[in-house]
Amino acid sequence: MPKTLFEDVEYKLPNVAKVPLYSPFRYPGGKSRWYFYIKQWILSTQPSLFVEPFAGGAHAGLAVAIEPWAQDIVDNVVLVELDANVSAVWQTIFSNEVDWLLDRIQSFEMSHAAAKEAIEAKDQSVRERAFAMIIHNRVSRGGITAPGAGWVKKGENGKGLHSRWYAQTLVQRIQKIAAVRDRVTFIEGNAFDVLPNYLGQQAALFIDPPYPKAGGRLYEHSDVDHEEIFRHAASAEGTALLTYDNSEHVHALVDAYGFDSEELIVSTTHHTRKTELLISKDLTWLRSMDPAM
Ligand SMILES: C[S@@+](CC[C@H](N)C(=O)[O-])C[C@H]1O[C@@H](n2cnc3c(N)ncnc32)[C@H](O)[C@@H]1O
Repeated sequence: MPKTLFEDVEYKLPNVAKVPLYSPFRYPGGKSRWYFYIKQWILSTQPSLFVEPFAGGAHAGLAVAIEPWAQDIVDNVVLVELDANVSAVWQTIFSNEVDWLLDRIQSFEMSHAAAKEAIEAKDQSVRERAFAMIIHNRVSRGGITAPGAGWVKKGENGKGLHSRWYAQTLVQRIQKIAAVRDRVTFIEGNAFDVLPNYLGQQAALFIDPPYPKAGGRLYEHSDVDHEEIFRHAASAEGTALLTYDNSEHVHALVDAYGFDSEELIVSTTHHTRKTELLISKDLTWLRSMDPAM
């Protein structure tokens, strides 16, 4: 078995307790655990523009928009998302409708019936769609809102849906995001249409697409052309960092397009060790990181 980076050190990857969380989403495949790598990548490459073309819960983009260490480096964060429900949340947060959303969250009394009613109201307006998505994301098992995914049954401590409703935390996160809205450009659209606009710029492209293996179960939109992603990333003037599942198919693309990759442990249980790939042209910054972080 090939060695993973930092394998020999006492390195507990999901050092998640130390990761600042800003996203209002519990996102399947959310990249909060990559926080320290993304920080190091940005500090090393100093891009003035950060682009996250498959934004989802936008853990990386939000950290870059909000965290003090990025303020003097990155002027603008561009988030792109195709899913209309996810997009409605970002559109509302970055608009004057954010106060309506905050009020709605604060006054909501969580119950099965109330959640169902909120979700069914999603077609009434963008802001209702945003609220419906926030509720759906909370009550669905694993935060998965793709068709066919179920609702949480027992919740934490067997307290059902109530245990999933942290109105105050959501309000605080949304306020923090809204406060940096001048630094963020949200685009509802297709990554493949938007990416070419940024390839000629000194931008940092953080590319976290639906993974070839698990994407279909997790997201409404998961059918993406991975070769096309690599082709775009390979032609970028700036820097591109991609994350992928650790599969032969992906290793073949890494080689074909002249990228470098490192396997990183994302979780360990008694018998299994799950790894994912970080991919870029130059990973010197990653290899020189202090694994203790
Ligand atoms: C792996 S998730 C991103 C997770 C994100 N990095 C986070 O921290 O939450 C991939 C996202 O890409 C979106 N997506 C799928 N196809 C897309 C496309 N063609 N253009 C833009 N977004 C797309 C999915 O809806 C999903 O939200």
